[in-house]
Amino acid sequence: MDIKAQLAAYGEAINDKLDEAMLLPNVPQLLKRAMRYSLEAGGKRIRPCLVLGTSEMLEGDREAALVLGCGLEMIHTYSLIHDDLPCIDNDDMRRGRPSNHKVFGEGQAVFAGDALLTYAFEWMLGQGIEKNDRNYYRAVLEIARRAGAGGMVAGQSLDLEAEQNGIADERALYAIHDRKTADMLIAAVLAGAYTANPTGEQLRSLESYASGIGLLFQITDDILDHEGDEALMGKTLGKDEKSNKLTFVSLYGLEKAKTLAEETARQAAQQLLPFGERAGFLHDMIDLIKDRKN
Ligand code: IPE
Ligand code: IPE
Ligand code: MG
Ligand code: MG
Ligand code: MG
Repeated sequence: MDIKAQLAAYGEAINDKLDEAMLLPNVPQLLKRAMRYSLEAGGKRIRPCLVLGTSEMLEGDREAALVLGCGLEMIHTYSLIHDDLPCIDNDDMRRGRPSNHKVFGEGQAVFAGDALLTYAFEWMLGQGIEKNDRNYYRAVLEIARRAGAGGMVAGQSLDLEAEQNGIADERALYAIHDRKTADMLIAAVLAGAYTANPTGEQLRSLESYASGIGLLFQITDDILDHEGDEALMGKTLGKDEKSNKLTFVSLYGLEKAKTLAEETARQAAQQLLPFGERAGFLHDMIDLIKDRKN
């Protein structure tokens, strides 16, 4: 199967599972609508696709991978709702629609984010309770750590601080991106690995791979903010330059940022050598992220 067909198949399975997860019979109508609004708007579903692809590569439990992938997508979606709020990035468009707070108001948007974050763990742990499988708990713990105060939220906090007070140097920029973007991709790949029975060596290679594509993902996000197509991206572009943000583009210039993307892609591919031909999907994901237009 080529990568586009594989992504479409994974995407369909993920969306079906999300529909099942989001029935939410005991949740007030308005809150439920706000939670579903951003989740159902789509998005590329890169994180759950990475969970499924890694799990399949290692012949893991597909059902567990689907559940974990949906949990991760709920957390990612909450992070976007909060990221767009006026007190953070103040963005009016997301996933091709008005941002959550534009439709439901800031208060309800905060709650929709809170609810998606909490429900993600209720869903993952609730589905996993019968398993009593240590690796499943390791996967959930990995997601909690990398989404939380030492991971994605740390990156968001440092990013906001840097916007207000400036940024010290190149190292500080990498430290922010490792957390705000790479950690959630690392969580996806490692959670997928834990649905199988991974060796320590496999986990280390996969962590380096995911750290590479995480960096690559943010370099391309910065490039696309500069020269992407707003209709394709489905979100407001050009904000980084306007707010004088230190990004890979402002730090290195457009051409050097692109060279850095190529170099990062090569390094990520190296990490897949131990998996041989079975790593086809993860390999294709590198090019997909590098050459993405949305
Ligand atoms: C956007 O993530 C936020 C960043 C980490 C740069 P995505 O580009 O994966 O957003 P969706 O899920 O496709 O909307
Ligand atoms: C946000 O980074 C990453 C998150 C953890 C939500 P950005 O602020 O650059 O993401 P976009 O460009 O709004 O999608
Ligand atoms: Mg932001
Ligand atoms: Mg933003
Ligand atoms: Mg951005």
